Amino acid sequence: MGGRLLPLFAVLLAARLTVGDPEGPAHVDGAPPSKIAVVGAGIGGSATAHFLRQHFGPEVQVDVFEKGEVGGRLATVTVNHNDYESGGSIIHSLNLHMQEFVKQLGLKYRRSVAGKTAVFNGEEMILEETDWYLLDLFRLWWRYGISFIRLQMWVEEIMEKFMRIYKYQAHGYAFSSVEELLDSLGGSGFINMTRRPLSDSLLELGVSQRFIDEVIAPVMRINYGQNVSIPAFVGAVSLAGAQNNLWAVEGGNKLVCSGLLKMAGASLLQAQVNSISPVHSGEALQYQLSFTTAAGTGSELYDIVVLATPLQASVDSGLQFQGFTSPFDELPGNYHSTVATIVHGYLNTSFFGFPDPRLFPFASVLTTESPDLFFNSVASVCPVNISAGFRRKQPQEAGVYKVFSPQPLDKSQLKTLFRSYYSVQVTEWQAYPRYGSSQGLPPVELHPNLYYLNGIEWAGSAMEMSSVAAKNIALLAYHRWNRQTDMVDQRDLMHRIKTEL
Ligand SMILES: *[C@@H]1O[C@H](CO)[C@@H](O)[C@H](O)[C@H]1NC(C)=O
Ligand SMILES: *[C@@H]1O[C@H](CO)[C@@H](O)[C@H](O)[C@H]1NC(C)=O
Ligand SMILES: *[C@@H]1O[C@H](CO)[C@@H](O)[C@H](O)[C@H]1NC(C)=O
Ligand SMILES: *[C@@H]1O[C@H](CO)[C@@H](O)[C@H](O)[C@H]1NC(C)=O
Repeated sequence: MGGRLLPLFAVLLAARLTVGDPEGPAHVDGAPPSKIAVVGAGIGGSATAHFLRQHFGPEVQVDVFEKGEVGGRLATVTVNHNDYESGGSIIHSLNLHMQEFVKQLGLKYRRSVAGKTAVFNGEEMILEETDWYLLDLFRLWWRYGISFIRLQMWVEEIMEKFMRIYKYQAHGYAFSSVEELLDSLGGSGFINMTRRPLSDSLLELGVSQRFIDEVIAPVMRINYGQNVSIPAFVGAVSLAGAQNNLWAVEGGNKLVCSGLLKMAGASLLQAQVNSISPVHSGEALQYQLSFTTAAGTGSELYDIVVLATPLQASVDSGLQFQGFTSPFDELPGNYHSTVATIVHGYLNTSFFGFPDPRLFPFASVLTTESPDLFFNSVASVCPVNISAGFRRKQPQEAGVYKVFSPQPLDKSQLKTLFRSYYSVQVTEWQAYPRYGSSQGLPPVELHPNLYYLNGIEWAGSAMEMSSVAAKNIALLAYHRWNRQTDMVDQRDLMHRIKTEL
């Protein structure tokens, strides 16, 4: 008997010392975890708290740490008694987790207000949307040939494969890495798409260089502040978002985060987590989090910890890993900083070649890669609450505009874009990864029962991607805790799900 137990303990001890070993010991007696911590209350952290509650049941204590505001990169600013989205703003109709959250929370969809888009190259509008859909299609066809149709088909094919995740997750399957997750959806093709430039993939499809420069590049600039060298996968995710069927949440998208935390019955701690360290007691491994609140410092022990905040040095999470054989506090790569400037004023339509503002028909202006341009996009924005009688302001009226730019706008730049203005509010975001350096995809399992959510952003940074990662981590944490290896990284899931009823 003792002879059989001894090697078991040796294995357990060895596993405990192995960084990232997924089979590490957490508990040996089959008891459920008593405390789980989530660090970060953006959409990823809030959704994780919600899914953890779903899978681990009502008994476990779920603590969510947030040093700033609940919502993270989903945030609003107030202009003239109305709130406007200053961060993540749109959601696609095929984003099933986000849709489900809105439904369960009893939130409402914000009515979308029609508005036309144009593309500006620094000198003139090179593409203008009209009132007439068929004319727009004809123009795209005339200017770009079949590129437009090829792109559409490519994006649809990718979306169709991506949608498999909802089935896998509904059946309880989890993945131990972003690569495994992508591989189960789209095979090595999806993984390759996280490594090769979007422009290469599109050229290979037969999309013309002109279409890439005049349509694709402007969309990447508004969505990710970067050029067509970003990886094909994130490019496709954002092109899906450039299609129609977009929506937002009435009252602000951040309401999803606070709503999920509440529904999960999670305790929110307004605190900066300063350090995390593994603590061994007997056979159990726990994590000690040390944190600072307005009232002072504290520390708590947790059975499971999910880090839902970027760990790259440029983001400065303030979190230190102590007592790990290899720390994770400075994952490779950087976040890209993007400035959102919300201006209440009069757009200088002359700048876009329309001296008479009454003849300026556009609500959004995207831009091409052009060395002289100091901004990525400018768009008239609607408040997060839209009343029945709401109409978009005309360009000759004072309106609220959102400008995205790589650097804060100086006074002369503001004076170029706006004839005059009443107010300017600036939010500088570490908005999304700076794609392109070949650092690979960050790990999901950092250490036994210690998970990292934001690695998914390096495949694609979007609210729905974070929600998918949240569901995956909750499932993974549950299966690891209960040693259900047959629910993790399974192959051929399409086939399995068909035969499993
Ligand atoms: C992905 O890349 C690998 C290695 O370069 C290659 O072997 C594989 O065929 C590629 N997969 C697809 C679907 O293109
Ligand atoms: C895109 O930007 C990156 C980094 O700023 C740069 O190295 C690359 O040459 C650019 N690519 C194109 C096609 O402009
Ligand atoms: C905005 O919408 C939210 C969600 O429907 C609601 O709770 C809030 O009271 C509204 N605010 C205003 C000013 O109408
Ligand atoms: C508006 O744009 C025009 C054309 O670029 C420029 O000459 C003018 O100085 C800008 N500013 C104002 C306040 O009109």
